[in-house]
Amino acid sequence: MQDIRNKFGKYFQGQGNIFTVRAPGRINLIGEHTDYNGGFVLPAALEQQVVMAGQRREDEKVSIYAEIPDEEVTFSLSRIERDPQHVWADYLKGVIFMLRERGIVLSGMNIYVGGDVPVGAGVSSSAALEVAAAFLFRESCGFSLGLVDMAKLCQRAENEFVGMRCGLMDQFICCLGRKGTVLFLDCLKEEYEFIPLKKRYRLVVCNTGIRRELADSEYNRRREECESGTAVLGKFVPGITCLRQVSVVDFEKFKDMLPETVRKRCRHVVYENKRVLKAVNALREDKIKEFGKLMKESHESLKDDYEVSCPELDLMVDIAGRQEGCIGSRMSGAGFGGCTVNLIEEEHILKFVEDVKSKYCSKTGIDPEIYVSHPASGVNSET
Ligand code: GLA
Repeated sequence: MQDIRNKFGKYFQGQGNIFTVRAPGRINLIGEHTDYNGGFVLPAALEQQVVMAGQRREDEKVSIYAEIPDEEVTFSLSRIERDPQHVWADYLKGVIFMLRERGIVLSGMNIYVGGDVPVGAGVSSSAALEVAAAFLFRESCGFSLGLVDMAKLCQRAENEFVGMRCGLMDQFICCLGRKGTVLFLDCLKEEYEFIPLKKRYRLVVCNTGIRRELADSEYNRRREECESGTAVLGKFVPGITCLRQVSVVDFEKFKDMLPETVRKRCRHVVYENKRVLKAVNALREDKIKEFGKLMKESHESLKDDYEVSCPELDLMVDIAGRQEGCIGSRMSGAGFGGCTVNLIEEEHILKFVEDVKSKYCSKTGIDPEIYVSHPASGVNSET
């Protein structure tokens, strides 16, 4: 953290009380597009993280400099507006907006943003930005806000200020992640449990280098399709408010009432929730092959039923699955490009990274970035 402190000092010429925070990116092992359906997810925090340094100002202004994309944005606390020219700053603005809406008194601030979470790659650099900002303001302005509430506030910032209707998974793992473990989260009950991941298994994140422009609007459309599926199924299964409450038996019984596209979306969600529960048991019992098989099924379902994969993600998963030491591989996050998550045996890591890189590059011409990580901890102010 000394590094970010120095950078801050150099950029803002700041002296005195400088606060620093770090917030991790995330990868999801299984349970995709289930969070906003009240379902189950199994993410881990990554060692790749956003780091921020901040210092209070005497006036009402907030000045944020971000190394990526090497831009500075300044605005007043009393006038917080979205800015299509600097979308990255909207994530921080959204958090400040929501904190103020809660009646929390904030001071102006200078903020320096750095870190090594790949941006726009589907490992939640946006949630890391939001959570780091919330934590930074909490530390420097001295109000209390628990981590679960912080996660929910950041999700609201993204839903209502940025306009992306994401679920709770990314902000939750970013706030609560625990070293060496994956987080089993029930998004309906907001109950969670940490499950240790054996040290001999590594998380490997392969970035396809592809990012589809339509990702956000397609994401919001998937949500609407799930909501319309819930409304139809609700006529037959009384009392349900989300797809998580639809059992496999009820889905199979009433699926013909759904229009085809909606039926496919609902099928993915209903079965994906089952897969997460099975995957959690497999991990607990160290039935790692079973875990890998479920990852594969999840990818197939996201590709065929949820239709959020793309040829590059499929190729990356296919190449990875043929490598020695690969327990499982699937797309992770919203989809339409971005990253795959791979669970790899430690002794095969080097060869895995080398081979996947060269094979993917020779087929696509894109030299992919690959990150290796153990599950890391959530946001903190480790200085
Ligand atoms: C994005 C959203 C999450 C979740 C995933 C898909 O990362 O931010 O809330 O819905 O997509 O599982």
